[in-house]
Amino acid sequence: MVSDQVPKVLLDFLPCRTPAAWIEAAAAHNEILLIDHAQCEKKAASTAMHLLFRYVEKPGLLSKMSQLAREELLHFEQVVGLMAARGIDYSHLSASRYAEGLRAHVRKNEPGRLIDILIVGAFIEARSCERFASLIPHLDDELARYYRTLLKSEARHFEDYLGLARDYAGSDDNVDERIAAFREHERELIESTDTHFRFHSGVLT
Ligand SMILES: [Fe+2]
Ligand SMILES: [Fe+2]
Repeated sequence: MVSDQVPKVLLDFLPCRTPAAWIEAAAAHNEILLIDHAQCEKKAASTAMHLLFRYVEKPGLLSKMSQLAREELLHFEQVVGLMAARGIDYSHLSASRYAEGLRAHVRKNEPGRLIDILIVGAFIEARSCERFASLIPHLDDELARYYRTLLKSEARHFEDYLGLARDYAGSDDNVDERIAAFREHERELIESTDTHFRFHSGVLT
């Protein structure tokens, strides 16, 4: 079940809903879910920081990405706090194939590179928001309450990335075509079988 707090435009952007088998796995692996969630928040902040260093000449991007980095780091702190309260050790986990699987299709040359990175950011934020909402009915009260608080900010991050992609696309850059291509890659990563359970993993074998 997807919460009615997720904007329709975000759900329509994604190629598919999270498979029920992933939700079942998540409910059975709350520890890995939280550790990997903390990792994802930290990586989201790091990606935004990377863009701040690389694209200093774009004030719109600087303002959105610095706000986003701060929010992701706040989420990171909150998840680490929840883990500590539950006695969950922050152990090292291998990354899921998801973000790298999307980034593998990013064009190498500018300005296409930036547009693709922003589109990938929009997919990661949109999928995260959809997954939080899908999980809420399957979590204990405390986690469900916390994940509900994240929906709004992750939906806004999705809009920010997508808005920036459209703002910076050149006249011969067809953003909708690139989104359509990444949608198919995203669907493949979400619906195909995967070896390890992670926040953005596919369906476990
Ligand atoms: Fe976040
Ligand atoms: Fe986010």
